[in-house]
Amino acid sequence: MEGSFFCVFNGARLFLSLHILMICFTHKSYPYGVEGKITSHTTSVSSLLPSPSCSPSTSKASIRKSTLEVIHKHGPCSTLFQDPNPLNHTKVLLRDESRVKWIQSQSSNSSDGLKASAAVSLPAKSGMTIGIGNYVVTIGLGTPKKDLTLEFDTGSPLTWTQCEPCNRSCYTQSEPMFNPSQSSSYSNISCTSTSCSQLGGRGSGCSGSTCQYSIRYGDQSSSMGLFVTDKLMITPTEVIDKFEFGCGKNNQGLFGRTAGLIGLSNDKISIVEQTAAKYGKYFSYCLPSSPSYTGHLTFGKDGGAVSSVSFTPLSTVPRRSQFYGISILGIAVGGNRLSIPSTVFSSGGAIIDSGTVITRLPPTAYSALRTAFRNAMASYTMAPALNILDTCYDFSKESTITVPVITFSFAGRVDVDLDPNGIFFVAKASQVCLAFAPNRADSNLGIYGNTQQKTFEVVYDVAGRKLGFGSNGCS
Ligand SMILES: *[C@@H]1O[C@H](CO)[C@@H](O)[C@H](O)[C@H]1NC(C)=O
Ligand SMILES: *[C@@H]1O[C@H](CO)[C@@H](O)[C@H](O)[C@H]1NC(C)=O
Ligand SMILES: *[C@@H]1O[C@H](CO)[C@@H](O)[C@H](O)[C@H]1NC(C)=O
Ligand SMILES: *[C@@H]1O[C@H](CO)[C@@H](O)[C@H](O)[C@H]1NC(C)=O
Repeated sequence: MEGSFFCVFNGARLFLSLHILMICFTHKSYPYGVEGKITSHTTSVSSLLPSPSCSPSTSKASIRKSTLEVIHKHGPCSTLFQDPNPLNHTKVLLRDESRVKWIQSQSSNSSDGLKASAAVSLPAKSGMTIGIGNYVVTIGLGTPKKDLTLEFDTGSPLTWTQCEPCNRSCYTQSEPMFNPSQSSSYSNISCTSTSCSQLGGRGSGCSGSTCQYSIRYGDQSSSMGLFVTDKLMITPTEVIDKFEFGCGKNNQGLFGRTAGLIGLSNDKISIVEQTAAKYGKYFSYCLPSSPSYTGHLTFGKDGGAVSSVSFTPLSTVPRRSQFYGISILGIAVGGNRLSIPSTVFSSGGAIIDSGTVITRLPPTAYSALRTAFRNAMASYTMAPALNILDTCYDFSKESTITVPVITFSFAGRVDVDLDPNGIFFVAKASQVCLAFAPNRADSNLGIYGNTQQKTFEVVYDVAGRKLGFGSNGCS
């Protein structure tokens, strides 16, 4: 909790006193209300705003052997983006909408889906890629090892990195591009191998006898090249020999300055399946509360960063089997369950995604959430809408704010009280927006996005078909 203070108490802002703050600071615990339920968070406005410096995590997870540090691509902890231009929030939201359209357009034929998505219509000139999240990790590849920073994405199957020499076009990346001819452990995958056939519709014939892949992410973004193997070092001691990945010879789209992507979806070619023997199709991550902190991505059980994790069943979403399906049963605001018929959530189903920023809800559920939230926040000044976000506040004159707790109930009696940082999308102190948006219809696929996952240890037990949430996974 260092660097950001927040404490929680039951009741309205009137009850806020120095005494309560002292309790919060000294015990770092949460006073509970009479019914034993937390109904609101009091948090400093400054803790919601990005800080210009990086405070790397010192959590227990960072000492686990199969753990990678997770960094927000656009924050002060990232070495990729020492960008003089501040993050354009409208662009982030446009890109997010493109990603949602891409996910919602995926067809049953998972081998076909990535290609079919080329037909999706996308906001003109958003200039953004959509198969891409906002968080990156750095892995080692080849012998000798080269460090590569890749976006990680639970919605994408194939891991790929740009490879020398480019065939047609490659984008500018921060780190030197991977060069197969300088790695003694590199091999091509033969066109006739089982691995090549697992590419399905993502295969694109042979180059000589070498298997080729081609992935399109729905706008003009794509990666194509050779399907190959090399040694992958998750950490210096955690080595995956003959890891299969795409050696991208022709890559387009704004993948930022990352070297490519690490695919964590539920698919034969993803890293999850490839490392099944070693890690038992079990991974977890924690996304930090703000870009000024770091989180982690961990493969395998190996201890666990948090003591208590609640599990909800993972479901398969019809026609979208590569994604991780979850069952949302209800939402509460300030401890009061919203009256939303359960069929509203079940008609379209939902997935959890590491790369979608804003949670997408059935419009019926969103409208109930918005009404309850606006009522609870009635004493604050509202601010103009920001793109898809229609409930924004001006907190520029506040030092602390009290916000109702938002609780998601998932199948299996799992109630998740979102972190205060998991409720808002912060453009600036004078425009802090409720980070949820409605789908067009209740029958559209819902998406539990990465803002809402912040600070939780999110555990994917793919073999056990369950998804876990543990609070305080990282700061
Ligand atoms: C942010 O991006 C949007 C959409 O691309 C653009 O219209 C707007 O001018 C940008 N704002 C700034 C400050 O660059
Ligand atoms: C799935 O996609 C593959 C490759 O594009 C195609 O050959 C196959 O017929 C498709 N299957 C179905 C059921 O559409
Ligand atoms: C891999 O295949 C490509 C394309 O066929 C070829 O140019 C390259 O020499 C092969 N590399 C190795 C190490 O076999
Ligand atoms: C290089 O591009 C040509 C077409 O321009 C294509 O036929 C060939 O398969 C590509 N090779 C690789 C390795 O991607």
